[in-house]
Formats: sequence, structure tokens, C-alpha cells
Amino acid sequence: MNSRFETYGVNCPNCGTPLLRPKTVDSVTGRKLAGACPGVITYTENGQLRRKKCGYTEPVAQRTIPTATELTTVAHRNDALGYLRTYSVTSSSDVMRHRFKNYMATDEPERRVLVRCQQIAKQIADGKTVHSLLIGKTGRGKTHLAMGMLYAVLAQTGYKTTKQVTKNGETKTVYVSWKALFIDWHELIELQKQSFKDDTLKRQVNKILFEIKQADVVVLDDFGSERDTEYSQDLVDRFWRDRENKTVIVTTNLDGKGLENRYGARTLSRMKNYGVGNGVAFSAIKDYRGEV
Ligand SMILES: Nc1ncnc2c1ncn2[C@@H]1O[C@H](COP(=O)(O)OP(=O)(O)O)[C@@H](O)[C@H]1O
Ligand SMILES: [Mg+2]
Repeated sequence: MNSRFETYGVNCPNCGTPLLRPKTVDSVTGRKLAGACPGVITYTENGQLRRKKCGYTEPVAQRTIPTATELTTVAHRNDALGYLRTYSVTSSSDVMRHRFKNYMATDEPERRVLVRCQQIAKQIADGKTVHSLLIGKTGRGKTHLAMGMLYAVLAQTGYKTTKQVTKNGETKTVYVSWKALFIDWHELIELQKQSFKDDTLKRQVNKILFEIKQADVVVLDDFGSERDTEYSQDLVDRFWRDRENKTVIVTTNLDGKGLENRYGARTLSRMKNYGVGNGVAFSAIKDYRGEV
């Protein structure tokens, strides 16, 4: 039997052969897919013994009509991914393809950082506020795993999180789609610089800054990568004031001391607010592109 398929205790209503279905689950609903019959039927025609494939497949109704819960998951997924695409700042759309499942952990240090990132993503999915710092040189897979964490949080929670709303003096907990953002730090500074002489861009940048404050989780990618802080210090202050008590996954080439020298003690203390135990060091990881 093909290793990608499995039996699941249901027999074909036509020929009695155990039905097979893919071992994987539907990526949206998380449910198993419908089965089909691998059986062969023997019959006679003009006195000759003949064989043909049974070919039975489970009825469409059984597999394609989604339940209300599945529809809600699809709606939350569309919302969360739409938000991510609309307000993220990236220099290349490649980052949107990074997942845990396409991260290759071929040696022990890579397995270690992958597991650490999976554990931290689980904590975020469980509702903990986290400031996680992924530290290491370029080409080590920090951005890849930061994005992997974001997608893992979304998928593990069915793309929804809880929020307290007060209506007519009554506070209730309701489900809302995750607001998750990826912010390429260098790109954000460039946008901010260009927006001084472009009003349309200025409105876009203001909207992004507003969403950075609202979002449930933000990846701050390549923090500290700008050449000098002449244009960035205001943004740094604003970002960390707005995210002081909210989840941020930071990737950076700088260590704690380097960040403090660059942006000052107050910023570092805000970054460390929820950072205890959430650091991931990439120092033992090889350059993915093969240099050192
Ligand atoms: N272990 C890995 N498995 C698969 N792809 C990887 C791995 N490590 C790095 N990459 C890829 O190498 C490139 C550089 O990684 P990136 O995450 O951008 O590194 P960093 O952010 O540390 O500079 C990306 O295209 C990324 O997807
Ligand atoms: Mg990077």
C-alpha cells in the first residue's frame, strides 16, 4: 500500500474492500479527507471472467459541505491572512512563504532553535504576552523561523484569539481573528523617510504605525540593521512604547549590549519586559548559504 494513504475502518459499500484516504488532513479544516475504494471487482461478460476497478468514492455531500465551525475557521483564516498581507512591511514577498515545515533542521543546533521557536509560538498561541529575541548573524534562518512562529500561532488557534468587549456595561469575551504583522525594520525606516515629501505615503505609514499599536503579535525583523539612528530613534521610541505590553518577535544581529548601546537603556528595558526565557541564540547555526 502507498505510504501516503491509510485505511480507517470503513469498508466500500459496493465491494467490501477497506476504503483508503490520504494520511494528511485538509489544511484549512484540519479534518481528514474523503476516502476511495482501491478494490478490484471480478465479473463475467460473454462467459469470460473479467476484472475492473471498483472506483467507489465517498459521496460529495459527506466531504465537501463544511460544518459551521469549519466555516468560521475559514472566515478567521481569510481575515487574519488578509490583515497580515495588507499591513505588513516587507522588502520581498518571499518571507511570506517561510514556515516551520519548510525549515530544514539537519543538525543539532538547527533542531534546537526550531524546537525553541516552536515552544515560544505555543506560549503565544496559549495567550501569553511574549517579547522573543532571535539573535544571530545574517543567513542563519532567524527571519524564516520568526515567520514560522507567526503562522504556527495562527494555525494552532484556528486563526482566532479572544478579546474583552464591554457593551451596555457588561464585559464579555469574544473571538476575533488574529491581527498579526511582519515589519521589516529597514523598510519601515525607508518608507518613513520617503513619506516626508509624499502625503499619500505619509497616510499609509501612519496607518501602519497605528496597526503596529493595535496588532496582537508583531514580527520586528532585522531590528538594529540601519546604518545610523538619525532617522530611526523616534520610530524606535514609538514602537517600543506602543508594544511595551504586547507580543513582539524580534530578529536582530545585535545582542542585548549592542541594542542598549544603540537605542538606550529605556528601550532595552521595554524590550525585556516580557523577554525572560524567550531569547533564541543562533550563534551555533551555520550560514544557510554555505559560507562560514
Ligand atoms: N534551516 C533552513 N531550512 C530552510 N531554509 C533556510 C534555513 N535556514 C535559512 N533558510 C533560508 O535561507 C535564507 C536566509 O535565511 P533568513 O531566515 O533570511 O536568515 P536571517 O534572517 O538569519 O538572516 C532564507 O531564504 C531562508 O528561507
Ligand atoms: Mg533576517
